[in-house]
Amino acid sequence: MHFPAAAIETEAERLFRALLSVDCNPGARPWDLGRCREIAPLTLEINARKRERGAVLLAHSYVEPEITYGVADHRGDSYFLSLRAREARTPEIVFAGVVFMAETAKILSPAARVLVPDSASGCSLADSITPEDVRRLRAAFPDAAVVCYINSSAGVKAESDVCVTSGNVHAIIAALPERRVIFVPDRLMGANVRDELRRQGVDKEIITSDGTCLVHEQFTPADIAAARAQFPGLRVVVHPECTPEVVAAADFTGSTGAMMRYVRATPAPYYLLLTECGLVGRLQAEEPARRFIGGCRLCPYMKLNSLEKLRDLLRAPRPDQIVEVPEDVRRRAARCLDRMFELSPAD
Ligand code: 13P
Ligand code: SF4
Repeated sequence: MHFPAAAIETEAERLFRALLSVDCNPGARPWDLGRCREIAPLTLEINARKRERGAVLLAHSYVEPEITYGVADHRGDSYFLSLRAREARTPEIVFAGVVFMAETAKILSPAARVLVPDSASGCSLADSITPEDVRRLRAAFPDAAVVCYINSSAGVKAESDVCVTSGNVHAIIAALPERRVIFVPDRLMGANVRDELRRQGVDKEIITSDGTCLVHEQFTPADIAAARAQFPGLRVVVHPECTPEVVAAADFTGSTGAMMRYVRATPAPYYLLLTECGLVGRLQAEEPARRFIGGCRLCPYMKLNSLEKLRDLLRAPRPDQIVEVPEDVRRRAARCLDRMFELSPAD
């Protein structure tokens, strides 16, 4: 596709206005007008091809900001994006995130062709457990409800009674009639849910499998103590995939969407966000007056997304970029997700 110089300049200026405050990754080039001019032909082509093909592009907040602000139709957390996928009426859904999120979109919108830029964009949590492992756990604890975190494969969802996200996990587990709950695949989030429900006076026994998120497991209470000593008035905002010790030392714990809402609603001189760096970029773009401290942790899977891969995908998707879920698995996984939507509190 060829675009006139004036169209490229207008697009570069749009990108520059959206991205100029983003400065979270110390190794990356700054978002100056020159860099925006370089990517403008890519974002113009991606947006034009989306319109041509009737595609909606969903982007998780962790992917690079040139995707979330340059070409995404919706950006947000896993729950928000699953709602957008469920209501999509377009022939195609392009998912810039990781494969379990795209599979979830396919389960919820089976008539749509769901496309992923890179089929190797896994997730250490989703990859930690198989459907067979879930069947074994169910056989070992037959009186327990099986609850899967949305960071799981379609096959694991198909073996589970209800799915949850980091935004609705407490309300959904509290609403289940079963006292005993098998929670897969995040051991750390399971421990955090156990602590939070105990604090709320909800009597549940939570059995977990052994997965962890390779990004969030790295944060330590010492990171928080050092930051608090250096930045008085600091607010520490963490994701529930962090360890219980990190959660205990934080001011707020929640999904990526809830973390953004907390920062917006809570004035403070500084914020430390213990999560993937993309979320800091989103807040820098949307709340440019706030100051974020701390280093940058990248999810290697989320970072497999790129504008070049999105452009090539929209020109002609390769077979490995088309997400398929066998129909019997899809139907059972859809039941597990539908139960989540039934039990999830209204936002
Ligand atoms: P959210 O549901 O909070 O967006 O989290 C998804 C995720 O992968 C966190 O690591
Ligand atoms: Fe999975 Fe962790 Fe990456 Fe989220 S940040 S997609 S949980 S590996």
